[in-house]
Amino acid sequence: MTVRPLLLLLTLALALPAFAADSRQRVEMPEMMREHMMANMRDHLLSLETITRDLAEGKFDEAAEVAESRLGMSSMGLHGAAHMAKVMPPAMAAIGTAMHHAASRFAVAARDADVEGGAAQAFGALSEVMAQCVACHSGYRVH
Ligand code: HEC
Repeated sequence: MTVRPLLLLLTLALALPAFAADSRQRVEMPEMMREHMMANMRDHLLSLETITRDLAEGKFDEAAEVAESRLGMSSMGLHGAAHMAKVMPPAMAAIGTAMHHAASRFAVAARDADVEGGAAQAFGALSEVMAQCVACHSGYRVH
């Protein structure tokens, strides 16, 4: 009888991603670049928080502005994207580029959010941005 809880625990452990083996590819880069990248990451998350709040409050232009300047194509200089891409495997850099493109497309969608069905489209476009965060996080690590 005592075997059952154990089996249950084992099944749960295997089902939960947190317990699964870490199959992400570890990417080596100079310490300074890694710190720079992590600072960018924290700003990405902050930007998403601002964007979702702006959307909820119907501030579509503000959401577009934050997305374009902090995550979109216009942010690539700010993030030193060209330098960062050189220390990443090409497939990883491509996800980064896809994220910047998706954020710029979101900015356009958010500016159109006033039209009928526009807000739903803006949320859809935002999920495309977040899909790139998820894609990269599930494939790569730097620690
Ligand atoms: C091109 C790859 C890539 C993209 C795109 C990406 N990240 Fe990351 N992010 C990483 C890696 C790699 C780490 C470090 C993971 C590790 O080593 O465990 C990380 C870490 C983070 C962290 C932790 C920062 C810290 O200080 O510990 C946050 C927060 C984060 N990312 C948010 C985001 C958000 C939000 C997005 C999308 C808007 C995003 N990231 C897009 C690769 C990416």
